[in-house]
Amino acid sequence: MTLQITIDLGTSHFRAGLAGEQRIISEPCTIARKENGKLIIGAEAERMVGRHPDSVTVTHPFYGGSVKDFDGTVAVLKYIVEQLIPNKWARRFDITLAVPNMLTPVERRALQEAARMAGARRVELFDTLVAAAIGANLPIDQPTGCLLVSLGAGSTEVALLSLGGIVDSRRVSIGGRTVDEEIMNWVRRELAFLIGVHTAENLKCQSDTTAETPSFAVKGRHLETGLPQEIKIPSTVVKDSLVNYYETIVSLIVQTIEACPPELVGDIMDRGIVLVGGGANEVNVLKHLTFRTEVPIIVADVPETCVIRGLMRAKRTSGRVGSSKSGSKIPSLFANLSMDKQSWREQVQKLIGKS
Ligand SMILES: Nc1ncnc2c1ncn2[C@@H]1O[C@H](COP(=O)(O)OP(=O)(O)OP(=O)(O)O)[C@@H](O)[C@H]1O
Ligand SMILES: [Mg+2]
Repeated sequence: MTLQITIDLGTSHFRAGLAGEQRIISEPCTIARKENGKLIIGAEAERMVGRHPDSVTVTHPFYGGSVKDFDGTVAVLKYIVEQLIPNKWARRFDITLAVPNMLTPVERRALQEAARMAGARRVELFDTLVAAAIGANLPIDQPTGCLLVSLGAGSTEVALLSLGGIVDSRRVSIGGRTVDEEIMNWVRRELAFLIGVHTAENLKCQSDTTAETPSFAVKGRHLETGLPQEIKIPSTVVKDSLVNYYETIVSLIVQTIEACPPELVGDIMDRGIVLVGGGANEVNVLKHLTFRTEVPIIVADVPETCVIRGLMRAKRTSGRVGSSKSGSKIPSLFANLSMDKQSWREQVQKLIGKS
């Protein structure tokens, strides 16, 4: 039997599972390489970030949807396969990877090749946002517009979906990690003080942009004295970085709505905008987007796992990767996912009576 492995490779975490099963594995998408060539992958490697000696290099092989370190990506994929199928004699498997629809052909080929090198018999690429919409239980197989906003660590995407496909989408390589890096850089530049990326991320996650907290205490190293110290960082620094990030999201939403047929705009106003991805856990993103767009904003359940849950559901329903034999039960929702954006737009316009 060929097992179906589904994978959502992210900038901060990978999530993976076998189609037809409930279990999802999730770990930081991080690799530590020791001098002797030994690789450490996942949570153990992430714990080494900012704490490792010069003889160890720690990298994130994947950023904003594309491969940054090919060998690292292959190693992560092999690690996922070992976690999901511990018995190596039972390892006949296909891999379906969630990928942003704006990847270049070269970026797509790199991912396909990496999955083949990890041992997959067949490799399929599945649109991340379509998977996220399925995971968030959006009725995307109907001729009704759904606006989905994905807030990842390395990218932010907005997509208008209808009839199981993407009518329009926008994407920027700015995400939660950009906010962390902005905070870290500000502290280094203005206070000559070094803090780690995890410290910056914790500040971001603790920060309530509407609260009156004047400052946050953080530990790090002073660049002038070289000594460890605790200092206070004004909370406005964190708030400003977050507000800049929220405004990036608002402008992507506005661009997508501007490009969308008026009937679908009406649907969005009625149904609201759905947020997925880890950044949707942020306390103020919902308030800020509601205030700025005047459209109801809904955060999906467990937003960071929407993509993998949707992918597992789609593969469970559609059966084998690439299966197109007569008699295979591919429901209408998933049957047309390979259609390009233009065809979708035309089909949607026909259905809603627009030329
Ligand atoms: N409670 C929270 N408050 C603020 N940010 C959060 C919170 N929880 C998670 N995040 C942020 O969400 C981001 C991770 O989201 P997610 O796991 O969806 O990203 P990813 O899939 O790894 O990245 P990408 O899809 O962009 O490649 C991180 O930047 C993290 O700091
Ligand atoms: Mg992601």
